[in-house]
Amino acid sequence: MSMHMKVESMLGYHTFEVPTAIKHGIGAIQYLGEEVKNLGASKVMLVTDPGIYNAGVTKPVEESLKAAGVDVAVFNRVEPNPPTRLIGEGSTFYKENGCDGLVAVGGGSSMDTAKAVGVEVSHEGTVLDYEAAEGKKPLENRIPPLATIPTTAGTGSEVTQWAVITDEKREYKFNTGGPLIAAHLTIIDPKLHVSMPPHVTAMTGIDAIAHAVECYTMKYAQPVTDAVALLAIEYAATYIRRAFADGEDLEARYGMSQSAMLAGLSYGSESAGAAHAMSQSLGGIVPVAHGQCVAAMMGPVMEFNWKGAPGRFARIAQAFGINTADLSTEEAAKAAVDYMYNLVEELEVPTLEEQGVDPTQVERWSKAAMDDPQTIGNPRDLTVSDYEWIYKRCFNQVEKTI
Ligand SMILES: [Fe+2]
Repeated sequence: MSMHMKVESMLGYHTFEVPTAIKHGIGAIQYLGEEVKNLGASKVMLVTDPGIYNAGVTKPVEESLKAAGVDVAVFNRVEPNPPTRLIGEGSTFYKENGCDGLVAVGGGSSMDTAKAVGVEVSHEGTVLDYEAAEGKKPLENRIPPLATIPTTAGTGSEVTQWAVITDEKREYKFNTGGPLIAAHLTIIDPKLHVSMPPHVTAMTGIDAIAHAVECYTMKYAQPVTDAVALLAIEYAATYIRRAFADGEDLEARYGMSQSAMLAGLSYGSESAGAAHAMSQSLGGIVPVAHGQCVAAMMGPVMEFNWKGAPGRFARIAQAFGINTADLSTEEAAKAAVDYMYNLVEELEVPTLEEQGVDPTQVERWSKAAMDDPQTIGNPRDLTVSDYEWIYKRCFNQVEKTI
């Protein structure tokens, strides 16, 4: 099989930057306090959600910080799909408590909330003024020292240069980002992942695979994002079923946490593709859980997309562990699509309908997805009616084509 180098990646001017120091290992959380002190913070705002906090997951985090002499102000009010209102509350909290650093503990919602609070406390106005959209302001200042501690293996937000925030007025999830918003440090400790229930392991893990698949096949792919995306897919294919079946399997938890981080790196500072355009635009309107929504869409999205980059989808099949030696490129690409359908079924991901998405609203969701900035990078050209077809596949209203 050839190397499938994209012509696009030889043209133009590309950049890849990782402003985040990546530290990891079983039990690595014990080093957090010293690391945060070295970043120059003396009182941090600990950003987390009530579930994580009440389960005691933040305890070793607080202990490590206090042992190093770093004061902690706990903000445990993070909601799923964090809205601008929450960011405002967080920024007020940060200022009132005299904080000089941020520690985020949780999934994408907590890490994105911390990033957005970082934007508000280091800029004039609100995070809405810094939406990654035409007519809005670019970020000008580095956010205060931020350490991200992921407790799921999925979002990759611990290393990405994005925060996704919900504007409830517009019913719209917007991005803000760039190197200035990235965490200064992440500590990835698989011990913090063992309490994740199987359905969360499944949906966040498939979200990580989705990041890698979408970034490996998107129009902005470049060699360095290809490298991390492929290994992210290999790790996930090796470990996701083990982590799902045995939450205490630390090797599987470690492999999945690395997969999610590598997939986050494959995002670089670019966008992803149709599954993220669809889930993000939908998530602004219906309060679906991001990973679960993406997971339910991945089979249909890959079924639509493989024709846009057959060689790349064939390479994904190899990363999944499929023996492609006797397959043509097209057969291997389709095998990758089927692998995703099977994985979603094996890991018992609920369908969109089971997640409460109204199957009669396909037209509305499709128009919203078409307007999402992530549509541009998709490997196969998209129209509103193409999105309608993908949605209908999600609802089993049209037949499978492969
Ligand atoms: Fe995602």
